[in-house]
Amino acid sequence: MITQSALQTRELGRTLGKTLGPGDVVAITGPLGVGKTVFAQGVADSLGIEDIITSPTFTIMNEYSGRVPFYHLDLYRLGSPDEFVWLGLEEMLNGKGVSVIEWGERAKEELPARTLGVLMEFIDSEQRSIAITGVGIRR
Ligand SMILES: Nc1ncnc2c1ncn2[C@@H]1O[C@H](COP(=O)(O)OP(=O)(O)O)[C@@H](O)[C@H]1O
Ligand SMILES: [Mg+2]
Repeated sequence: MITQSALQTRELGRTLGKTLGPGDVVAITGPLGVGKTVFAQGVADSLGIEDIITSPTFTIMNEYSGRVPFYHLDLYRLGSPDEFVWLGLEEMLNGKGVSVIEWGERAKEELPARTLGVLMEFIDSEQRSIAITGVGIRR
């Protein structure tokens, strides 16, 4: 589908988020500035989290507490897929929370088979194409 504003993308994240529960993992793929963090903020909204979700670029992972824990990951600066394992991140994905992972394709072999993919692309300055690519971003 196509969103016309950041607000609409956030609403889409909120709509998806309402369907998510413990152990669910969403990997968002798309270029810098496309709106991955905006979408993640919508998922956080649906979990009752009021904190401002910022890109955890320098920390890889931020945890927030809501209706269930929310793990927001950004693998942009991940050195290698092995680092994902060293950091123990896959344990988190199997925990009690909902995980949203920006740049998840950087560790796709490490993500669970149940991972839901979201693909975002630029159309113009305000419009984005957003597709749910289904369960299992691993190919
Ligand atoms: N339709 C849209 N969906 C999402 N963000 C949009 C849209 N139109 C404009 N924007 C803007 O694009 C930027 C997206 O930033 P961000 O979510 O941090 O990107 P990313 O995490 O993918 O690098 C924000 O400044 C947001 O206001
Ligand atoms: Mg981001």
